[in-house]
Amino acid sequence: MAKTSLVLFLVLSSFFIALLQCDARTHRSRTQPRPLRPQPEPQRCKYDGIFQFGDSISDTGNQILEPAGPRSPCAHNPYGQKLIGEPTGRCSNGRLMIDFIAQALGLPTPKPYLELGLPTPNPYLEPGEPAVSFNHGVNFAVAGSTALNTSVLLQNGILSPVTNSSLLVQLDWFLAHYQNLCETAKNCETYNILKGSLFMVGETGGNDYNYAFLQGKSIEDATALVPLVVNNIRDVAKKLIDLGATRLVVPGNFPIGCSPMYLTLFKNNDSTSYDDKGCLKGLNTFARYHNQYLQNALQQLRLEYPNVAIVYADYYQAAEWVLTNAPQLGFETKSILKVCCGTGGDYNFSLMSMCLGWKEFCMFRSDQYINWDGVHLTEKAYQSMADWLIKSQVFECIV
Ligand SMILES: *[C@@H]1O[C@H](CO)[C@@H](O)[C@H](O)[C@H]1NC(C)=O
Ligand SMILES: *[C@@H]1O[C@H](CO)[C@@H](O)[C@H](O)[C@H]1NC(C)=O
Ligand SMILES: *[C@@H]1O[C@H](CO)[C@@H](O)[C@H](O)[C@H]1NC(C)=O
Ligand SMILES: *[C@@H]1O[C@H](CO)[C@@H](O)[C@H](O)[C@H]1NC(C)=O
Repeated sequence: MAKTSLVLFLVLSSFFIALLQCDARTHRSRTQPRPLRPQPEPQRCKYDGIFQFGDSISDTGNQILEPAGPRSPCAHNPYGQKLIGEPTGRCSNGRLMIDFIAQALGLPTPKPYLELGLPTPNPYLEPGEPAVSFNHGVNFAVAGSTALNTSVLLQNGILSPVTNSSLLVQLDWFLAHYQNLCETAKNCETYNILKGSLFMVGETGGNDYNYAFLQGKSIEDATALVPLVVNNIRDVAKKLIDLGATRLVVPGNFPIGCSPMYLTLFKNNDSTSYDDKGCLKGLNTFARYHNQYLQNALQQLRLEYPNVAIVYADYYQAAEWVLTNAPQLGFETKSILKVCCGTGGDYNFSLMSMCLGWKEFCMFRSDQYINWDGVHLTEKAYQSMADWLIKSQVFECIV
């Protein structure tokens, strides 16, 4: 029986892109004294560009260009319908947090995206002229990707079914891109793109745990992966800093226990294990454990590199804030943990269909829902989270 459900999970999980991760429990990790009197709005950094690493939380079009891309739900309607009426590769009905962040930071809109009016850096795998279209950074994030190499996951009995473009592969892409830039610019040392850019290292790692859980691993098993996942994130941050990056934002994991996917699949795992929001306690505690481990690693990095801004972005708290303030933000109170498009059940979640085939309903009512397909959030939820992060000064000038 256990074997059957494992096989089922393997089959099912290869169908969808699990990328939902984030969490962040504690308040801002940079300890800055709170001002006693009202301060002028803090100066936002003038960033020259954004380099984004991660998974479906921030993929704006890479995974759908990979060989397995066409099988992704995010490559089909109604994904992206709110943005341009067709899929863009974003695993949501519209924009992602990175789109709103790039806009808030005042990044100019790169060429191929002029028609969308989006300042977000272009996906790395998008064909085009790098020198032109990657002027303001590059998005290396791949939906379904993991922080650990797929070979390392396999050694731990976990199959990564969607993509092999894990975090270290994305770093290799960055290194190739950077070398290319240096050759074009002829003087890499004075070339300022790294120094003036924002490096978003994550969210990543969420899928390592998603695949573990979906393939029958316990919370204890997943806990053993945390040091490995965090080491990879830290190593990538270090490498970027050694190359010249001075502003890094490293997001944590989401409160995955509030995800309709887990709420549905683990419904009867232990009926007493819900918190006051109706979320799965064990999974949220696990997400916070990852986040704390990550923050400790970042603190070590700050001591090592006192002149580099290394900021933890608390996606956990941002998502929790959206859940708690859902009515004030305009979300439908009865649907806080429900999926916009689904086939019924307590959470209206369907792993088999995700959002496919539900165009009509979700088109008109997506703004009332936090959850888009049960794994990913709606544009409006991502916008609310991005607002919270921007207000929490995650992107302010700190060096
Ligand atoms: C990842 O790489 C392995 C080994 O090369 C290959 O068998 C597998 O099909 C790849 N997975 C995906 C999703 O591309
Ligand atoms: C992980 O993948 C990267 C990029 O392909 C490679 O350079 C590295 O050696 C791999 N590490 C391990 C431990 O497999
Ligand atoms: C499911 O419940 C069992 C027993 O209570 C526990 O050991 C396991 O970690 C739980 N799995 C998840 C993913 O919550
Ligand atoms: C579940 O999704 C379907 C399809 O989008 C929708 O018609 C229905 O109203 C949803 N149910 C709830 C309770 O949100």
